[in-house]
Amino acid sequence: MVRRALISVAVLAAVVLALAIGLVYGLRSRNHNNNNTSDFAETWNSPSEFVLSKNFSITHTPTTRTYDWTISQQTIAPDGLERPMLLVNGMFPGPLIEANTGDRIVVKVTNNMVNGTAIHWHGMFQNGTNWMDGTMGVTQCAIPPGQSFTYNFTVPNQWGTYWWHAHSASQYVDGIVGPLIIHSPDEPHLDDYQEDIIMMISDYYHTDSGSLVSWYLSVDSEGTEPIPDNGLINGRHSWDCSLDAQALFPTDSKCTPGAPMSVFEFMAGTTYRVRIINTGAFADFQFSIDNHTLSVIEADGVDMQPVIVQRIPIHVAQRYSVLVHANQSVGNYWVRATMNTECFNAPNPALDEHIKAIIHYAGAPTIQQADSVDWGASGWSPTCVDLSLEMLKPYFAQPAPNATVQIHIATSFQTVRSDHVNLGYVNGTSWTPLMNDTTLYQAQKSITAYDASQLVVTLNSTGVVELVINNYDEGAHPFHFHGHNFYVLGWGGGNYIPGKSPLELTNPLRRDTSTVPSFGYTVIRFVNDNPGLWALHCHIEWHMEAGLMMQIESLPQVIKTFEIPPEMPAMCAFKSSP
Ligand code: C2O
Repeated sequence: MVRRALISVAVLAAVVLALAIGLVYGLRSRNHNNNNTSDFAETWNSPSEFVLSKNFSITHTPTTRTYDWTISQQTIAPDGLERPMLLVNGMFPGPLIEANTGDRIVVKVTNNMVNGTAIHWHGMFQNGTNWMDGTMGVTQCAIPPGQSFTYNFTVPNQWGTYWWHAHSASQYVDGIVGPLIIHSPDEPHLDDYQEDIIMMISDYYHTDSGSLVSWYLSVDSEGTEPIPDNGLINGRHSWDCSLDAQALFPTDSKCTPGAPMSVFEFMAGTTYRVRIINTGAFADFQFSIDNHTLSVIEADGVDMQPVIVQRIPIHVAQRYSVLVHANQSVGNYWVRATMNTECFNAPNPALDEHIKAIIHYAGAPTIQQADSVDWGASGWSPTCVDLSLEMLKPYFAQPAPNATVQIHIATSFQTVRSDHVNLGYVNGTSWTPLMNDTTLYQAQKSITAYDASQLVVTLNSTGVVELVINNYDEGAHPFHFHGHNFYVLGWGGGNYIPGKSPLELTNPLRRDTSTVPSFGYTVIRFVNDNPGLWALHCHIEWHMEAGLMMQIESLPQVIKTFEIPPEMPAMCAFKSSP
């Protein structure tokens, strides 16, 4: 992030650029003549998809779950404004993957888009199947347009709330996202709820992400990230169409007011497990439900000792499960996912940051309204940080293992390149994806040095790695490490001072995405027992596009023995921009 005073000139230039790029990216403009009144027929989204079926048998007996997906571009209007999006099987959000621990997941992905793609299974350990991680330029080349590729992996030793998303350019921001839920009979809180529902919350943009990235990675943006136009809960929200003219990127697209919000049916007396997933690109949300406290029982697939909050901050790519007791009088109550606009460094006049959905108790009037009131300032954190470490204690306690290696990471944004574009740097390297190769395939061939655009730290032996991340940027960065859960020993403001900054060692939080505060530090540890090339990056999509990513090469001798299906490297022959 870089703060700036004047945005209007840049925005004007950006609009022109965005329009031009929209064409280059092959996005068709919407049909102006469509006066069809069934605009909200919502063939792309059915609320029942987000209620987990009671018919799913939670068992130790492994099975194979097969999915057949086709990704294509389609114009839909999640919040009333039509825009082309990238959809899996015509759905937004995309299809649910639901499995038990130990199951095999097989997903055939057919790419009917004009660009290549890759699908990442966020939070899956992929121990022994690193090549199935779905990260373009790291573990695979893009699936070319018109072709199919079948992902195939097992999910031992983990359960909880995950998600899947495109990991090729910024495609997930245009719709290629969905929930991935793993059950186990061993889950400690299984008997504490009767219903299990998903609430995916995300920021939302009316302009295709390719245009936004091109603007962001130009001098015109002066380092200001694209600011969302709206937010969605399970792909729905309404929007005031009259705001389009004031948007950072006005679209002039067909817009129908009154798009519906998501409604969740509650039965009085029932306890719900609500799985909150931030599938967005940039915004940090504060999540709450009026009149109902949240008992947090899971963070990123790790069971927690229950802790009761009124409001929970959730950054990009993080997940929480909370128990909600339907113990209030029959009525309608607001679900509130409020974007933390303090984390943006420019306003978007088109944005109302108060994203809402409705809890509808059986017997209450069926209206898109509630008269419940917010908890107020309680629990509100303006600083774009995670829930404090003291509150999040893993249910299955584990002390932090002693570190055998320490790696120092410095994150920053700088305009040192000759074109003065503001880019993200990890220890002086700004990542760009390899286009027709991957670091994994290069590691198999034992190349002597990776390209200068790749910061790869090689770990030759098993052990415990301590990562000290110092953030020299004013933006907070939700860092995700592929293939692992890590121990979060501490985070805070300023630089990490060994011996002085407090570390939690007895039962630290474990998760896969943790926010490094603005001008702050985070210290994590992980067990280096998963051979492969693993991305470690800020999950704010704009920041990853700006280069805020590095890789860990774990156990290169084992990587050389990987038997990668030959159709994978074959996809590298396709010359494409992702
Ligand atoms: Cu959610 Cu690199 O991924």
